[in-house]
Amino acid sequence: LTESEKSHLLAAIRNVPDYPKPGIQFKDITTLLNNPEAFHFLMDHLVKRYADMDIQYIAGIESRGFIFGAALASLLRTRFVPIRKPGKLPYTTISEKYSLEYGVDEVELHIDAFSHGLAHPRVLLIDDLIATGGTANAAVNLINKAGGECVEACFIINLTFLRGDEAIKKTTPVYSVLEID
Ligand code: PRP
Ligand code: MG
Repeated sequence: LTESEKSHLLAAIRNVPDYPKPGIQFKDITTLLNNPEAFHFLMDHLVKRYADMDIQYIAGIESRGFIFGAALASLLRTRFVPIRKPGKLPYTTISEKYSLEYGVDEVELHIDAFSHGLAHPRVLLIDDLIATGGTANAAVNLINKAGGECVEACFIINLTFLRGDEAIKKTTPVYSVLEID
């Protein structure tokens, strides 16, 4: 994308100061979703990027990753797989824990999410935003555990000053549409 296209997209995302805590600038993608031109421009860009990458599954991270992931899966005619917060998936799951500043969290995936006869299915991971990278890194590990090959981790926004993508980059390519430093 050109710098001007990036600034148009960025302008469609609302900054909410002091949410959820004082000092945090929340990146609110609801204004992007509410802007048909900007949303379509973004999805069209992702379609062009991934159309020829032989993606077989798109895994979206709950909950904002579902929005972009499901839309992209339908446009690319790939399968969509939800990576969810603990206790939400009804069937047998595999899970991956990750540490937070205080405590631990977990992501889960259905054990048969990638069982459609492909030996190493090519999976694209998508989320709206990468901050510390804890969630996305656990999601990449989960995809690999489930027998998938995570061919790229895609984020609409990367808060690059947090260096959250560093751990993922050791094993998996990372693509961020917008970088905020
Ligand atoms: C946000 C964001 C990413 C994650 C990034 O989700 O949508 O999923 O945090 O943080 P990290 O890189 O530090 O792990 P959140 O957990 O707020 O939930 P939501 O998507 O359901 O709103
Ligand atoms: Mg999220």
